[in-house]
Amino acid sequence: MKSLFEKARIGDLTLPNRLVRSATGERAADDGGRVTDDLVHIIEKLAEGEVGLIILGHSFVHPPGRVSRKMTGIHQDGLISGLTRITEAVHRYDSRVALQINHAGRQTSKEIIGGLPLVPSLVPEYAPKGEVKVLTDKDIEEIIECFAQAARRGKEAGFDAVQIHAAHGYLVSQFLSPMMNHRQDKWGGSPAGRMRFLQEIVRRTHRLLGSNFPLLVKLNADEFIEGGLRIEESCEVSGMLEAEGIDAIEISGGIRETASLIIRKDIDAPEKEAYFLPYARKLRQATSIPLILVGGIRTLAVMERILGDGEADFISMCRPFIRQPDLTRKLKNRETTEASCISCSRCSQERERPVYCPLDETY
Ligand SMILES: Cc1cc2nc3c(=O)[nH]c(=O)nc-3n(C[C@H](O)[C@H](O)[C@H](O)COP(=O)(O)O)c2cc1C
Repeated sequence: MKSLFEKARIGDLTLPNRLVRSATGERAADDGGRVTDDLVHIIEKLAEGEVGLIILGHSFVHPPGRVSRKMTGIHQDGLISGLTRITEAVHRYDSRVALQINHAGRQTSKEIIGGLPLVPSLVPEYAPKGEVKVLTDKDIEEIIECFAQAARRGKEAGFDAVQIHAAHGYLVSQFLSPMMNHRQDKWGGSPAGRMRFLQEIVRRTHRLLGSNFPLLVKLNADEFIEGGLRIEESCEVSGMLEAEGIDAIEISGGIRETASLIIRKDIDAPEKEAYFLPYARKLRQATSIPLILVGGIRTLAVMERILGDGEADFISMCRPFIRQPDLTRKLKNRETTEASCISCSRCSQERERPVYCPLDETY
């Protein structure tokens, strides 16, 4: 039976425990997407707090793929030295760190990227005023290469793993979505066509880094929109990812318009915790890839039950670690049995300051 504070493996990577800090956009890069002291400080606190695997907040692989102003960049080799400060800080402790790589797709704005957001298809309901650019075949090939090069930079910067962000309505998840991808060429038209963009990113990255370098995917189980991706198709995607040799899948759900279901409020009872657990159970039947479960997990009892029942292999949290970077150590030493995060989600509303818990002004 799996337990929270035993060593565990993701591919070739050994983690000191089964607790993961889910990617959390830290809003702490400078205008060029470069790492700042604030960002190193936020991550070092988590490593000091003994998180098994820290997933850095999403980093953009391509300038038009930037989601917000203070987002970390991974689109140029010049960024590697700054990112190395993060991996060196983490490796001073018994903790590991992964880089999450992302492209905004439609979920950005002209003000942020200085041009039109990029999309697989024009979907008027989701492109107010039609102000988007539909990707050509050549553009798609270029972005696949950007993802692979970003992963290569991550490896060079000393990250222990890379996670491809294929959830939350960003570009990779737009390609997967039957609602957002109406293409009739090889990048759409069927579940296999919609999966091709992600599949090619995985293949290109494996060719560049070798298939032993740990590669993870964060995947939507459901988009919670009419005509969107549902669990049945996510199970098919997980089958493809298993065949391609992906080392772990983190399960989430939702897009920008349904963000209140990605980051749910008021988790104040055990039965409200682990809100993606029913989807994990279905994915568990579809794949034997290690599963990382995120979404409203707050108490030690729920974490241990999920691992004990074999419903997921790793427990991932975001908001609790914003409030308590030392939560892992506190749980391990039984100084506490639950996160003190009240799931108010105010941490996700602030835009300008580096991420912090508004209930506790220190970060
Ligand atoms: C401030 C904030 C930033 C986030 N940034 C990211 C991100 O960069 N990448 C990502 O995949 N998810 C991001 N998320 C979603 C979380 O990783 C997680 O899936 C979600 O918050 C649910 O987990 P929780 O209930 O433990 O907070 C963010 C959430 C918050 C609150």
